[in-house]
Amino acid sequence: MADRPPRVVLVGFMGSGKSAVGRLLARRLGYRFEDMDRRIEEKAGRRIADIFLDEGEEAFREMEREEARAIGRQRGLVVAAGGGAFARAEARALLQGGALTVWLRCDLEHILGRVPVDGSRPLAGNRDIMRALLAEREPSYRMADVVVDASSGTPREVADRIVGLIEGRTRKRTSARR
Ligand code: S3P
Repeated sequence: MADRPPRVVLVGFMGSGKSAVGRLLARRLGYRFEDMDRRIEEKAGRRIADIFLDEGEEAFREMEREEARAIGRQRGLVVAAGGGAFARAEARALLQGGALTVWLRCDLEHILGRVPVDGSRPLAGNRDIMRALLAEREPSYRMADVVVDASSGTPREVADRIVGLIEGRTRKRTSARR
């Protein structure tokens, strides 16, 4: 695959499979994999739930922005963005710069089945809370370059769909140059 994007950023709601798909996709592309949430936790030395509890959501969003900025300088990377990162204009712009952004679109039923309400994700709540948050964020997720169905199929199949899209885009660009 010549002419591949230097970075692929997976966006979408909690439970859409960004981390599982991202890891597999990175392997397929020969890229490194970076999970924004895990990086933030490593740097802060605390779990996300504790960051929210001790410092509040805005402090977490600031860490997320910083992480998005650091990611924007790297190449050969697949990134799993936190579910709220792409919904914030500044972080979104940083994640978009030079990258192929992919929305893993997942319906509410699948999300509810995948996201445990165990406190590890401070914004995860009951069906009504999740429905409202998803509706609020969808317009932002739509700003991704491409959308992939993540409600059906295994993480491997979803990763395959993304590889197919990247190959298609690369082919189109190559033939346009001829
Ligand atoms: C959040 C999603 C989480 C994590 C944090 C906030 C959100 O990431 O960043 O709990 O605002 O939707 P995942 O989408 O990886 O669960």
